[in-house]
Amino acid sequence: MYYAVQQPKRIVFGADIIDKIGVEARGLGAKKKVLIVTDKTMQKLGFYDRVHKPLSEVVEEVEVFDSIEPEPTLATAEKVVTASRAGYDLIVGMGGGSVLDMAKVAAAAAANPDQNASEFLGANKIINPSVSKILIPTTAGTGSEATPFALVIADGKKKAIASPYNIADVVFLDASFTATMPPRVTAFTGMDALSHAVESFLSLGANPLTDSFALEAMRKISTNLEEVYSHGDNLKARQEMALAAMLAGIAFGNAGVIAGHAIAHTIGTRYNVPHGVSAALTLPYIMEYNAVAAGEERMQAIAKALLGEDVGTEAADASKAIAYVRGMLERMQLPTRLSELGVTKDDLRGLAENVVKEKGYLKRNTREMDFDAALKLLESMW
Ligand SMILES: [Fe+2]
Repeated sequence: MYYAVQQPKRIVFGADIIDKIGVEARGLGAKKKVLIVTDKTMQKLGFYDRVHKPLSEVVEEVEVFDSIEPEPTLATAEKVVTASRAGYDLIVGMGGGSVLDMAKVAAAAAANPDQNASEFLGANKIINPSVSKILIPTTAGTGSEATPFALVIADGKKKAIASPYNIADVVFLDASFTATMPPRVTAFTGMDALSHAVESFLSLGANPLTDSFALEAMRKISTNLEEVYSHGDNLKARQEMALAAMLAGIAFGNAGVIAGHAIAHTIGTRYNVPHGVSAALTLPYIMEYNAVAAGEERMQAIAKALLGEDVGTEAADASKAIAYVRGMLERMQLPTRLSELGVTKDDLRGLAENVVKEKGYLKRNTREMDFDAALKLLESMW
């Protein structure tokens, strides 16, 4: 038995530290052309200028691609590929998970002139190592900054470009970049991070190192998420959330997420709800479904991470952990039932059929899930 864990090569974190990006870019050998992959909101928030200025002091040209929509499709990825062919020696991604995923595509495309985005789809399909990339998350949720995955919607399904070349050379966690998130976005992106931590801990792909990352992410999220939901300008808590999302990203980037994400992706793409909302809604149900198979000890570890170590072994059981997660959803006014997302009872069979097609997620699930089990679970979620 042996394990291997991959993680970002360098992590720079703090508050108002983005001016250090020039030094980091130079450290990666960038001299000529940098492409910033982002979306239009970053211009409005003034984040773009804060990144552009220090970069323009160390390289000859800084260009921008800012046409990334949430939940990008393969067509968007192809546009990113086309825009990345102009001889860039560094790609900087700044935004939420969708933007960071597209920055990974850009870095791959810049080093692989003969491949288009559809040829990157799948595992280990990127031929040459990507050009250097710096990723700057502006939400504390997806963990994309720490994973080897880039997700795109192709044929109505979320598909992954999985490659070690997608791992970031430098991750910038600047708490001031996440402090402008409105409460609702803070809530569902933070709960997405919690779902990554819990699902990777319950994954059959978990190992002692991913467990450490996952449990620490759970502790930080239970301590800080509701604080940043109600006091968005608390930079110390924002930083803890940024670290938590990244730790959860390292955990699931190696251990994988499980059936919760099979359900979250199926619902998210079909009803066009933000990924974090569907992942958050699914979390307590998938914990409940897996509790028996995961065993008392694993569920107690989750309960202690969420409720605090001093909760006592007797009180730290699966039901307490699940109730705690449900309470978080309710306190932050996130949906707790599928019917709230516009799902009808007649839709459930079709959804269950699609969930069981997500074999990659299901094969790592602690407890087996066939069509009947998926349907029963979706009915309880409805
Ligand atoms: Fe997720």
